[in-house]
Amino acid sequence: MKILGIETSCDETSTAIYDTERGLLSHCVYSQIKTHAPFGGVVPELASRDHVRKTLPLVKQALIQAGITVPDGVAYTKGPGLIGALMVGASIGRALGYAWNIPALGVHHMEAHLMAAMLDERKPTFPFVTLLVSGGHTLLIEVKGLGDYKILGESLDDAVGEAFDKTAKLLGLPYPGGPHLAKLAEKGRAGYFYFPRPMTDRPGLDFSFSGIKTFAVNCIRENKQDEQTKANISYAFEEAVVDTLLIKVKRALKQTGLKQIVMAGGVSANKRLRETLKEKLEAEVFYPPFEFCTDNGAMVAYLGAMRLQRGEKDHLEIKVHPRWGMEDLYRSRISSQGWHK
Ligand code: KG4
Ligand code: ZN
Repeated sequence: MKILGIETSCDETSTAIYDTERGLLSHCVYSQIKTHAPFGGVVPELASRDHVRKTLPLVKQALIQAGITVPDGVAYTKGPGLIGALMVGASIGRALGYAWNIPALGVHHMEAHLMAAMLDERKPTFPFVTLLVSGGHTLLIEVKGLGDYKILGESLDDAVGEAFDKTAKLLGLPYPGGPHLAKLAEKGRAGYFYFPRPMTDRPGLDFSFSGIKTFAVNCIRENKQDEQTKANISYAFEEAVVDTLLIKVKRALKQTGLKQIVMAGGVSANKRLRETLKEKLEAEVFYPPFEFCTDNGAMVAYLGAMRLQRGEKDHLEIKVHPRWGMEDLYRSRISSQGWHK
């Protein structure tokens, strides 16, 4: 079964073909970074306009690269994300399914991130714990199987990626801030600043990152703004975030008794986080290849393939869910009303 995946939930237009027998056949990405950079963040209307321009050419490119003319199914991200951006991918994906007379299915963006590690040759086996860290989410999830998820902990305020991006902006770094801050942190020296590790002094698996961000605001205001000081602040910020995540991941593994941890989402591209978890955990650590950490069509095609194989498909009426919690997937499974909302 060859499935076309379409991702347009935020600032990347991406398509891919996943074959359930041969694996990933093609993957195309167009990043909107240049469009949004002058504004210091994603401008939703510009994102939608760019997706409209780029999606079909990238669909064609993915088909050509895979050497096929018509796939066996189409999967597109239908939430969560920017409403206009989601509507572009969903409309095009659903319409292609109708025109080609093949099943089409809208999938959950975070669930797709969750499954991205399955695109690697060395992949985890169910059950495992996932640390899902992106621009909008920070979640610890017990994954028992496809669609069988239990949220163990989540951020009560800012997501990790959001904290990275906001702190980077305060340091005067360009959008998208996370990778720029991580790069600057490489030049930082240890021992100059010490950021708090929020909510690690009490039991539980929830997170809070707004305190770290506030600490960064004060730290930046009270210190010189030379390059080395900025690098030292970045170093200490990253150290605190990684340390906090490590503490909670250790707890989650202990609580569940599981021995595999899977990282997912844009922040899982962070080298220090990857290395620290690998070094400090007595568990097998998995993370997606770099290109599948941030938003991509390959993870959408993979998840779509798994769900389409089960016979799931959407009606012609196109629906998107800009706000759609992972926990809803879990709840809808329990209430057995199907996972479509
Ligand atoms: O998963 P993603 O591409 O989009 C969302 O669904 O949110 O994640 C984007 C987030 C941004 O906050 C970005 O700054 C962060 O991932 N990010 C990083 C790194 N690469 C991307 N944060 C820290 N270090 C990185 N190397
Ligand atoms: Zn994402």
